[in-house]
Amino acid sequence: MRILLILNAVFLLASTTAAQRQRELNLMPMPSSVQLGTGQLPIDQFFSVAVTGFQEATLERGVQRFVAELSQQTGMLFKHKPADASPTLSIHADHGREPVQKLGEDESYELAITDSGAKLTAPTPLGILHGLQTLLQLVETTPAGFAVPAVTVKDKPRFPWRGLLIDVGRHFIPLDVLKRNVDGMAAVKLNVLHLHLSDDQGFRVESKRFPRLHEMGSDGMYYTQGELRDFVAYAHDRGVRVLPEFDTPGHSRSWFVGYPELASNPGPYKVDPEGPDSVTDPTQEGTYKFLEKFVDEMAKLFPDDYFHIGGDEVDGKYWDANPKIQAFIHSHGMKNNQDLQAYFNQRLQKILTKHHRLMVGWDEILHPDLPKTIVIHSWRGQESLATAAKQGYSSLLSFGYYIDLMWPAARHYAVDPMSGAAATLSPEEKSRILGGEACMWTEWVTPEILDSRVWPRTAAIAERLWSPQEVTDVGSMYARLAELNWRLDWLGLTHRTGRFQMLHRMSGTEDISALRTVADVVEPVKDYARISNVKGPWDFRAPLNHLIDAVSPESDPARHFRDQVQAYIQSSYKDQAAEAQIRALLTTWRDNDMKLYPLLQRSSLLLEVTPLSQDLSALGAAGLQALDYLDKSEPGPESWRAQQLALIERARTPRADLLLSVVAPVQQLIEASAGQTQK
Ligand code: ACM
Repeated sequence: MRILLILNAVFLLASTTAAQRQRELNLMPMPSSVQLGTGQLPIDQFFSVAVTGFQEATLERGVQRFVAELSQQTGMLFKHKPADASPTLSIHADHGREPVQKLGEDESYELAITDSGAKLTAPTPLGILHGLQTLLQLVETTPAGFAVPAVTVKDKPRFPWRGLLIDVGRHFIPLDVLKRNVDGMAAVKLNVLHLHLSDDQGFRVESKRFPRLHEMGSDGMYYTQGELRDFVAYAHDRGVRVLPEFDTPGHSRSWFVGYPELASNPGPYKVDPEGPDSVTDPTQEGTYKFLEKFVDEMAKLFPDDYFHIGGDEVDGKYWDANPKIQAFIHSHGMKNNQDLQAYFNQRLQKILTKHHRLMVGWDEILHPDLPKTIVIHSWRGQESLATAAKQGYSSLLSFGYYIDLMWPAARHYAVDPMSGAAATLSPEEKSRILGGEACMWTEWVTPEILDSRVWPRTAAIAERLWSPQEVTDVGSMYARLAELNWRLDWLGLTHRTGRFQMLHRMSGTEDISALRTVADVVEPVKDYARISNVKGPWDFRAPLNHLIDAVSPESDPARHFRDQVQAYIQSSYKDQAAEAQIRALLTTWRDNDMKLYPLLQRSSLLLEVTPLSQDLSALGAAGLQALDYLDKSEPGPESWRAQQLALIERARTPRADLLLSVVAPVQQLIEASAGQTQK
């Protein structure tokens, strides 16, 4: 037994009430089984850990990180104590983990906490890492000091593949930002970081064989091979696989800048949006010679068993425009471009097999000519997940988990890989559904924006992929998400704090309070509305310094306001506490534009916010009038109502690619007051 830190036990006499026992713990993802016991285990300066059983370096580092995180969370340095005292936490792993993390490796763990100690056991160090994260989430602030409740947790993942894709092609994301996001992933038990390493706008990996890939195919922003090795080890330590994606034959303009011979059409090419575009030429032997050497080099950098080849959105017009490619299609008895892509994928798949890699590709690659070892990554619709599974292919879900679409967490949370067509699959077919990935495409994301787009919503997807299928209560999800949200700050994630710097930049002032009032209740437009509004070609170098870039994809204050309005209406307008809070907010909004207006006029970045600020004030005033009518039990006059509904219509229109997210509840108040008869 090895004692890292030794406890001088301090027992706390705490009685647990029935209410405490029934309360829900702030765990995310929710474990498969949680049984609350009696009492709590104090976390004080004499906290200590002992590792019994299997010993290995990643386990040791994981425990050291845990102690450091606990120290940070509590603001306490732990004291060393004599070796004969029993440890606060004892950890036991049965055996080691794979040197390269494997899909489906045992990640289960059991955590038993009593008022005298905690015991964490798992078959492998992976389970221990997950259990330590659960323990960190259990730390509470109590009248008697920091403590974790007495509880027995038995936990294991529902799906073996729980991923987050980060697109580093469109905008380069530095490694320190990636590392803190890996820490966030580990905190919510995600286990695959899918790096989309190349796209039209950038090739982000140093290639020694083909140096013009990163030298000419990027704006000078790429990862060196040494950096990547270090990063892969960093992720491995945290139980996270790194899945590389080099998108081909589409989305590959950055390759052609330095190697135009790979393209289907004459160049020259640039990563800039101006100038010609193309896709890879699958008919030339040179392409496969290149890919053979390329995969050989990249497989040495990325040890994961899987290798993502992209394969999405291949624009066939570039093949149609090349007579040699058309002649190749006909002479090989192919019917169309899909067949040509399948031919390309087959050739690429053989190269990957030679380098002991399993091929993953977006759902376009599904084709009967490909072997059943490939993995289909569903993004265009959920059906392809079940279709692939039926045909014998493993599959992954990302349709419904595109976090760049700015949906609320609840909408992602409602998407289950086993729903829809997948629900009718046989057990064997179902076992081919490996899990899913949240996708962070970065057309509109720079390093300073990334964290706020990923967190906290990705935690809701992480729960969907880890927790039992029955865990679906949206109210509980949001309550636990809110508690997780501030804890993620400990990891250095800037999802909650980054926006203030951006608001200061926009306003050029210290006092951003009135701007925050608006920023709190607007959300970015949803789906692909932002890119649809771009005039001319989208340019990845466009400044991302507007209000839309600073605000949360989902406004928590707006959601709380909606809930309060709902509670107030459901109480037949009797819930005075809800009414008081609604009034307070409406009053703040009504009076805000007067304070904010001068600031908006002083900044080119904020001028576009003027109509939103005005409408928010008008909504505040309209809501207050509606409440006055409701208080007097007097219906609002028809003319007043018509005026307010015109305001509602206008306020619903996106401006500056932003939506006022409190329009619907104010409308509810107006309609309630109009329909109001004597109470
Ligand atoms: C994709 O979103 N084109 C995979």
